[in-house]
Amino acid sequence: MSAHNDALEIIKDRAGDGPVAIGLVLGSGLGHLAHAVDGVAIPYADLPGFPHAAVSGHNPNLHIGLLEGLRVAVFGAREHYYENGNPAAMRPALEVLKALGADRLILTNAAGSMRPDIPPGDLMLLSDHINYSGLNPLIGEPTDKRFVPMTDAHDPDLRKALRASAEAEGIDLKEGVYAWYSGPSFETPAEIRMLKTLGADAVGMSTVPEVILGCFLCLRCAAISTVTNMAAGMSDEKISHEHTKAMAPLGATKLERILRHFLRGQRQHG
Ligand code: HPA
Repeated sequence: MSAHNDALEIIKDRAGDGPVAIGLVLGSGLGHLAHAVDGVAIPYADLPGFPHAAVSGHNPNLHIGLLEGLRVAVFGAREHYYENGNPAAMRPALEVLKALGADRLILTNAAGSMRPDIPPGDLMLLSDHINYSGLNPLIGEPTDKRFVPMTDAHDPDLRKALRASAEAEGIDLKEGVYAWYSGPSFETPAEIRMLKTLGADAVGMSTVPEVILGCFLCLRCAAISTVTNMAAGMSDEKISHEHTKAMAPLGATKLERILRHFLRGQRQHG
């Protein structure tokens, strides 16, 4: 049996086999929402194929249960490409999400902004992304399913619903293009000028491989960045991982309100 099937059995054993509607992947400093799930928390270490050992993030648990009346799977941490050099690190976990019945995937992350009108503390809904890394989690996938169309990778209906939730909550939700830079070093000011020229509005080290995998698995995807800093060279502030973690909570409360409202709205879709 594959790792994926083993993990699925363990999850069904502990969480019951009711179908999950939506998966949420929580980024740095945004893990609070996981603890609001009324259900079970399963350590990644118990789940074959799930990232563990060096995974960054404080909550390497899969939370399954009810949130705003909808059965969800919340991934409290992700493995980034820069940790072990594997762009497909989240593939087994997302395959399990699909096998649990989910058809929607919401991703969150911390990002640096290249837009003066999107300062630290703001939220940015991804309208699209640029895979600047040149990496792809589907390299090596042997089937023709690897030729995934990415035109509506950031699902228009989910984006519309997230925008409406932000508006209903009175929260300013910006929208823009996210560029994936591999990390773990931050970008240089010259790289940021280049990314701006190429049409990016924010930069970060995650999410894009998961959106590609999500599209491959026929999960409708949407993602929101919490801006933790202006990108390199755009302000005098020192950029650091500590700073990212310290700033993420600024947007986290707003993000949680948007996501809770969004989940209530998604109940009608099962
Ligand atoms: N660059 C890349 N990743 C990030 C940044 C940044 O400026 N801020 C938070 N994550």
